[in-house]
Amino acid sequence: MGIKKKIVAIVQARMGSSRLPGKSMADVAGTPLINRVLMQLKGSSLLDEIVVATSTSSEDDIIEEFVNSKGFLVTRGPIDDVLTRYNIAAEISKADIIIRITADCPLHSGDTIDEVINDFLTNDADYACNTNPYTRPDGQDVEVFTRNVLTLASKHALQGPDREHVTPWIKRNSEIKKLDVLHSPPHQPSMRWSVDYPDDLEFARTIWSYLDQIGTKPFNFEDIMSAVINSGAKQGAAIINEGFYLSIYNEASAEAAPALSLEKSFSWLERSEQVIPGGAQTYSKSWRHHIRGVTPIFLERGDGAIVTDVDNNEYVDLIQGLLPNILGYANKEVNQAAYDRASNGHSFSLAHPIEVELAERLCNIFPCAEMVRFGKNGSDATAGAVRVARAYTEREHVAVCGYHGWQDWFIGTTSRSAGVPKGVQELAHPFPYNDTDALEELLSSKPGQFAAVIMEPVNFIWPEPGYLEKVKEITHRHGALLIFDEICSGFHFGLGGAQKLFGVTPDLATLGKAIGNGWPISCVVGKREIMKTFEDAFVSFTFAGDVSAMAAAMKVLDILESGNAYARMSAAGTKLFDGARVMASAAGLGDAFQLKGHPHWSIFSFVDENGEDDPATRALWIQEVTRKGVLILTTFNISAALDDSSVTTALSAFAHAFKRVAKAKSLGIPPESWLDGPIPVPAFRAR
Ligand SMILES: Cc1ncc(COP(=O)(O)O)c(C=O)c1O
Repeated sequence: MGIKKKIVAIVQARMGSSRLPGKSMADVAGTPLINRVLMQLKGSSLLDEIVVATSTSSEDDIIEEFVNSKGFLVTRGPIDDVLTRYNIAAEISKADIIIRITADCPLHSGDTIDEVINDFLTNDADYACNTNPYTRPDGQDVEVFTRNVLTLASKHALQGPDREHVTPWIKRNSEIKKLDVLHSPPHQPSMRWSVDYPDDLEFARTIWSYLDQIGTKPFNFEDIMSAVINSGAKQGAAIINEGFYLSIYNEASAEAAPALSLEKSFSWLERSEQVIPGGAQTYSKSWRHHIRGVTPIFLERGDGAIVTDVDNNEYVDLIQGLLPNILGYANKEVNQAAYDRASNGHSFSLAHPIEVELAERLCNIFPCAEMVRFGKNGSDATAGAVRVARAYTEREHVAVCGYHGWQDWFIGTTSRSAGVPKGVQELAHPFPYNDTDALEELLSSKPGQFAAVIMEPVNFIWPEPGYLEKVKEITHRHGALLIFDEICSGFHFGLGGAQKLFGVTPDLATLGKAIGNGWPISCVVGKREIMKTFEDAFVSFTFAGDVSAMAAAMKVLDILESGNAYARMSAAGTKLFDGARVMASAAGLGDAFQLKGHPHWSIFSFVDENGEDDPATRALWIQEVTRKGVLILTTFNISAALDDSSVTTALSAFAHAFKRVAKAKSLGIPPESWLDGPIPVPAFRAR
C-alpha cells in the first residue's frame, strides 16, 4: 500500500483588493467573508488540512489574527508573488497535493471540491481544474496540483501574471498531465458567485442570510443553488475573470511589435500570381483581404488552434478556415474516420450506405430535416435549396438576407455582380434583418411571385423576440417557402442550429462549414414533401456523395453530441469576448471598440468619435495582434481546440494591440502612420 498523500487546501487571502478593499474581513451576514469560506471548506471529506496564505503586509495582520483564532494555520509571503506564497504554505503544511482556493468564494462547497479531487486522483493527473470549461458557477473554482508541479512552476514562472495568478505557467506547460473536470449537469457556467465588487458582496449576504435560517452545517452545491433560486438574490454585474484580463493588460507593452519575417509567403505569392488569378481560391483567404506586407499569405500546417505559415511563424488561428474547423485543425478522430473510409475507396460509381446513415442522423438533429441532399460547398446547398423552392412553388423571385455564396442567383444582389446576367439579378431582392415591415413590403411588391425567403436566421445580431416567428408567418402568407441558411449557425450555435435554438422551424435549411470539421461537405435538409422536388429539379454533381467527407461528418456529430466541445468553445470564446471588452475599456477605447455576436462567433470593429466605421484603427489593431501571434480577420471564430495557452496568447496579443492603439490616439497620431501596409477593402457587404 502506498503512503497516503496529504491533501491541503491553500486559501489565498489579502485585505488589499483594489476593487473591494478589505473584502476578506467584510461582513457576510454576521461573520467575516473568510470565515464563510473556511467553514464551507470543512464540508470536504477529502481535505486533510486547510491553510490560509496571506501576505507579510501589516494590513493582513488582521487576517492572521482572525484565522488563527478559528484554529487554522496561516502562512505569509510576498504580496504580489502569490506563487511563492503557495510554495511557503505547501512547505509548512507538508502538502503533497494542493487545492487552490481563492478567499473571494464564500459560496464554495465541499462536494464540488471533492469531485475535482476524486477525478484528479483517479486519473493520476498532475493538475486538474473545473474551470475549463466552467460547469459550476464562477466562485466554485477548484484547482488541484501536485507539490512537484508547484515546485516546477515556482522555479520557472517568470512573468508577473504567472506569479500573481499562480497557475498560468502550469496551464501552458504541455509536459504537465492536465485534466479538465466536468461536474454533472445542470451546468451553470454563466453564474457568478465570487465576490469582487460591492454588489457581489450584497449577493453573498442575501444568500447567507437565507442559508443561516436553514442550519449551520457546511452547505453543498445543491443547497446553495436552491438558496440562489429561492432567495431572489440578484447576482453582481461584473465580468467573470476581470482581474485576470486586467493583469494581462497591465503587463502588455505599447511599443510596436516587431514585423514578421514573411519572405517565403511573398515568394509563393509571386509564383502564385503567375498561375492563379487573385492568388487564392477564396476571396477571404487571399492577400487582398489582409494587410499586405503585415499578414502571412501562405499557411503550411495546422494543429488544433495553431497554424504555421510557410516562413515557420506560428499563430493562434481565430479564422479557423472561415469556420469549418470547429474542433480545430487535424482533429485526429475525424481525420482517422475519413482516412479509414478513403482507404476502401471514396468516390464511388454508385451511392454508398453512409449517405443514408448520415442523412438519418441529420434528420434526428435538425428540426426541419426529414430528408437530406448533400453537396460540397455551402453554395451548392443554397443554390440547390433555391432551385428546389423555385421548382416547388413554380415562382421565380427570392428574398435574401445575409450572405449565401458565390452563385449567380445570389451574388448578383451584391456589388460583385460582374458576369451575372441582368435577368438573373432582377430575381433576387435583399431585405434588412430584424425588420418585418420591410419584408412584408417586399413580398407585397410582387404578389404571388416569391418562391422563397432565404435568410441567415442569426449571425452577429440576435433576432428580436418574435422576429423569426413573424418572418415565417409573412413568408407562408405570401405562399413562399422559408429557407434558413444555417451554413454558419447550424453548428456554431449548438447542434440543431438556430432553428432549434429559437424554436422556429423553416421549410428548408442549408448546412455546411463545420459539419465535416474541414472536410468538404454541405447539405440541404428539409420537409419531405418539398425535398422530393429534388427528384425532378436537376441538382447533381460528381463529388456530392464523397464518402470520406461523410465519414468525417459522422465523427464530428459523435464528438459534438457526446463530448464537451461546446462547453470548451464557450469557455474559450467567453474569455476572448470578455477579455477584449475589459481591455478595450482599460485602454480608454470602450466606446471605440465594438464587439457583437455570440461567444462562439463574434465580430469586432472600431468606430470614430462620430460612431462611423474606423477601418484604419481596426487595421492597426489587427497588425499588432498578428505580429503577436494571432491570425485574425474581423471575427473571433472559436473552435473547441482553443486551450488555455492559446487563449492566453490571444489575450496578450489583444492587450498589446489595445495599448498600441490607445498610444496612437493619445499622441494624436493617425493610425495609418503606424500601419505598415494598405487597409484591406472588403469585397462587399452582405451582412
Ligand atoms: C451563411 C452562408 N451561406 C453560404 C455560404 C457559402 O458557402 P461556401 O463558401 O462554402 O460556398 C457562406 C460562406 O461563407 C455563408 O457564410
